[in-house]
Amino acid sequence: MTRIAVYPGSFDPPTNGHTDLVRRSLALADRVVVAVARNSTKEPLFSVSERLDMLRQAVGEDPRITYESFEGLLVDFCRGHGASLIVRGLRAVSDFEYEFQMAMMNRHLLPGLETVFLVPPEDATYLSSSLVREVARHGGDVSALVHPVVLAALKRRFAPR
Ligand code: PNS
Repeated sequence: MTRIAVYPGSFDPPTNGHTDLVRRSLALADRVVVAVARNSTKEPLFSVSERLDMLRQAVGEDPRITYESFEGLLVDFCRGHGASLIVRGLRAVSDFEYEFQMAMMNRHLLPGLETVFLVPPEDATYLSSSLVREVARHGGDVSALVHPVVLAALKRRFAPR
């Protein structure tokens, strides 16, 4: 039986923590669907298709990984893909409450769907898309935190007009 995992998120933009997690989630599943939520942030920095393109390029081609966007409930997306696992990163204690609530709610909505948490690499424990956006917006160096493709996109977005 093929085990399918869904790795959902906003990925606005994808960081090195995200790309590491996509690759490592292949240890848990035969196929991984990276799922960009369409409505998770009101005013995203990057469009959904930009985020999907960045993820594709940052992670690299692998037939076991697919990239999609979704709208509505994550559990419906998982059901539609026959997924049995949701993968999420857990960086610090501060993530725990939100992640725990989501995992419980998703299991309530679709019993049998398990959420597994992967710990990010040490140098990504403090890393978040919102911090990357903030630092890049003010001209700070995020080159060690994101893929060069994402770095270039951030530079274009925040280039003085
Ligand atoms: O990267 P993020 O913003 O922390 O990801 C949050 C995300 C997209 C996984 C979450 O908001 C989500 O699953 N949204 C879809 C709507 C949904 O199913 N909400 C109920 C989850 S308990």
